[in-house]
Amino acid sequence: MPGPDKEELSLHSELRLFNAFHVPELKLWLLPPDAPSWHAPDPSKLGMPYWAFAWPGGVALARYVLDHPEVVRGKHVLDFGSGCAIEAIAAARAGAKFVLCSDIDPQALKAGERNAAQNGVTLRATTTDLMGVELHGVDVLLVGDVCYDEAIAQRLIPWLRAQAARGITVLVGDPLRVSGALEGAEVLATHDCPFDGDPRGTTLWPTQVLRIA
Ligand SMILES: C[S@@+](CC[C@H](N)C(=O)[O-])C[C@H]1O[C@@H](n2cnc3c(N)ncnc32)[C@H](O)[C@@H]1O
Repeated sequence: MPGPDKEELSLHSELRLFNAFHVPELKLWLLPPDAPSWHAPDPSKLGMPYWAFAWPGGVALARYVLDHPEVVRGKHVLDFGSGCAIEAIAAARAGAKFVLCSDIDPQALKAGERNAAQNGVTLRATTTDLMGVELHGVDVLLVGDVCYDEAIAQRLIPWLRAQAARGITVLVGDPLRVSGALEGAEVLATHDCPFDGDPRGTTLWPTQVLRIA
């Protein structure tokens, strides 16, 4: 099996430990805006390392879960599109019985594992694409900032509604990037969260936590 390529290795070495903005209970390894990779001759070669940031949707959701631990306490939780795993770690800290991270990017799961260890929690992880799959054994589905463009919204939202209709509590953290995508969902909270990929929170953006029914 091929090992990680040079770009991945250099990115991991450029991560820095931050108190998560708005979620100071958690420390996360994130990419600072002044990381040399962003100034490399061809940064596009790195692809988009979603896992190297805590996105506003994940930050808002993590804050919500820590403020309302009863939502996940003793429950089986799936963090879909987990990235750096901020909301998964918050769920584990809030007393979830079992937390599974799902991300199609294997680097995300590696990042999530490192962040989980940093925060003293254990997570399970899968790279299986669960979108469209009927979920079993999941009580709470957390979705932080995965509704990031029209194409993904069109597949994601009907799937989330179908899971909610089967009795799963579906909570989404979202800075409303896709107009109207989450219309009709119940707004549980709004937090000003760092936008986008800036762990220091230079620019804040109103970000909702919604329950899909
Ligand atoms: C903007 S990031 C959000 C990460 C994290 N939840 C947060 O808020 O910081 C979106 C994540 O969704 C993941 N993703 C996209 N499509 C997916 C799919 N079908 N299954 C699992 N993960 C997916 C991406 O790899 C990426 O890590």
